[in-house]
Amino acid sequence: MSAEPAGARVTIESIKGREAAEPPLVCLTAYSAYIARLLDEHVDILLVGDSLGMVLYGMESTRDVTLEMMIAHACAVAQNSKHALTVVDMPRGTYETSGSALANARRLVCETGCAGVKLEGGSVRADIVKHLVDNGINVMGHIGILPQSVQTPGGYKVVGKHPDERSALLEDAAALEKAGVFSIVIEGVIEPVAREISQAASVPLIGIGASPHCQGQILVAEDMLGLTQNPPRFTKQYARLDDVLRQAVIDFAEDVRARRFPSAEHVYHANIEQLPRRKQTTQPQHKKSAANG
Ligand code: KIV
Repeated sequence: MSAEPAGARVTIESIKGREAAEPPLVCLTAYSAYIARLLDEHVDILLVGDSLGMVLYGMESTRDVTLEMMIAHACAVAQNSKHALTVVDMPRGTYETSGSALANARRLVCETGCAGVKLEGGSVRADIVKHLVDNGINVMGHIGILPQSVQTPGGYKVVGKHPDERSALLEDAAALEKAGVFSIVIEGVIEPVAREISQAASVPLIGIGASPHCQGQILVAEDMLGLTQNPPRFTKQYARLDDVLRQAVIDFAEDVRARRFPSAEHVYHANIEQLPRRKQTTQPQHKKSAANG
């Protein structure tokens, strides 16, 4: 069941007040109008994640994604969603100081129509988060693996095994909650620690490679749909669209080369009946039969 009745828009308040006993929040990434329209009525949150750098643009990491890229994709998603709450990632380097964070978060929200922003980091970002929240920006936190801070491609390491990491994660979640976030993404954290943090927090924790006990789950839509190569181990693939698309392209190429495409139903036939009427001349015009087109 969605966070809101059918037809109604999911709100920040309904996400923030989500009770642990309620069904988990369903969250997916979306970067385009088509995917936003496809997912919108079935999910609670659409995240315009900076993972688009890798998934759409073939970059090695999220580190070079720009504010302009996020604004363009977030516009497409927000304008094509009627139900889900739309959240957009602040890319790396756009929230280094409270001042720059506020200016950039305002652009992301005002220019796109998204309901909130997400930024990576726990205690170290708490002051910036509080500044945004105090100025009316809805903020989603992100703890655990922080892709914007990982220098080496493929260098994502599961967090929480060491007792110090567990304590740091608990502190991060508490600091973000105090700063006013409406929810927190928890990524790549060992299950018992992710569960403990979810149970301790009073805002919903949205897991990705975390725990079934989180109050929500998020995946990259393209990973879940089978449109990416080598998705992370925590992804469950619900379809293999890559195979379907490849076969469609192979079939098209074969049809074109064999002159099977376009066939009669795919071309416009001259239909004299449908052409604009000519001025009547003194010579009678002979009607020709013409195919539809
Ligand atoms: O950028 C992204 O897609 C994300 C999700 C993986 C949570 O941050």
